[in-house]
Amino acid sequence: MSLSKIVALAVYVAAVAAQAPTETYPATPLASKGPYTYPSGIPYKVDTDTHLIRGVQHGYNICNSTTAGQDSLCQTMHVNSVDDFCLWGPPEMGREVGDIEGIMVAWCTQPRHGTRLIPAEALHGVQFMKTPDYAQVVGFIDQTKINILAGDYGGEMDPHGADLRGNPMGGLVFSNQFTGSPIQAIEWHNFMGNNGFCIKVCDPNGPDAANFCEHKLDRIGCAYNAPNNARNGTFESCEGESQDFPGIHTNAAGVTTSYNQPAGPITSISYTARVPASSNCRQFESTSIYSALPTLTPTGVTTTSTTSGRVVTSAPTSRPATTGNAPGSGSGSTPTPTPGAGNTGGASALSISFGAVAASVFAALFFA
Ligand SMILES: *[C@@H]1O[C@H](CO)[C@@H](O)[C@H](O)[C@H]1NC(C)=O
Ligand SMILES: *[C@@H]1O[C@H](CO)[C@@H](O)[C@H](O)[C@H]1NC(C)=O
Repeated sequence: MSLSKIVALAVYVAAVAAQAPTETYPATPLASKGPYTYPSGIPYKVDTDTHLIRGVQHGYNICNSTTAGQDSLCQTMHVNSVDDFCLWGPPEMGREVGDIEGIMVAWCTQPRHGTRLIPAEALHGVQFMKTPDYAQVVGFIDQTKINILAGDYGGEMDPHGADLRGNPMGGLVFSNQFTGSPIQAIEWHNFMGNNGFCIKVCDPNGPDAANFCEHKLDRIGCAYNAPNNARNGTFESCEGESQDFPGIHTNAAGVTTSYNQPAGPITSISYTARVPASSNCRQFESTSIYSALPTLTPTGVTTTSTTSGRVVTSAPTSRPATTGNAPGSGSGSTPTPTPGAGNTGGASALSISFGAVAASVFAALFFA
């Protein structure tokens, strides 16, 4: 959502309900809070604002054995390894990711983080990648097992959002990959949807954390924000070189260009993001690395109706254009990821907010 829309919404809210909160921005942006030491320095809620138009933080940040379980509202997550990572997912089934990015909760592969668990057999392929600048996990998932509607192109979560409260609001991300102990990654991005995901957590001590974990290209998915060669059916842990900053591309002639996401429909993108070299990939059996995961059904009802009454089917091209949405989806009304369906093999979570025609053009360009 653009700043002008947020301001317009704030004015509108003020006009129709004098009692309602009218302010948008917190005194301190989420990305400027902390860093919090794990676990003792973490407050019960990182976002304590009660007077802002997006409402209050949905869950909490102190997560332990008492908060673990499939109704957990833990919003502190970890990205450590191929067998120990978390994703942001909806607390309940029923609404599109793009409408509820602000209230996403942690879904993890290990029970010890005080969160929900990604159900057994939901993960169909996972690649963990460690580079000098970040740790990244890209994968293929049956998203309905973590409360994401079938056919939902999804969305992008990051610690900024249009109102600087983050998506989810108050969400924290930790990794033990930078110092050997869990430290907070200030900059990260996570695309969820279209049965794929990518999450990148940038080394907070690295010089370019904000660039590698760029959060503005929220509609063009994993293929451009986390270019990868993850394969469905393969579970592996690799080391690699770092990507180009999202949006930065150097062509064969050595000319470097910078892509800016347009406000309107995206029908084509003039470049393909470079997948950096990787090495030392070790492969695993999913049954051995995810042995702690329970066989579970999603919470809530498995409806395919969205809150706005639109029907979402599993056919991506039938997804209607999203409409102007609440401030809740700070990244605008778009998200969407999709693992590269059998083409290049790279998971490419995409976020598309345009209509069916444009979507099929886009699909033809990128998934054919
Ligand atoms: C466990 O988490 C709950 C909920 O955040 C918190 O109230 C409680 O103090 C925590 N317990 C310990 C031992 O940290
Ligand atoms: C990945 O492979 C599984 C098992 O073959 C399949 O059910 C699933 O649809 C695939 N996912 C994607 C995103 O292609």
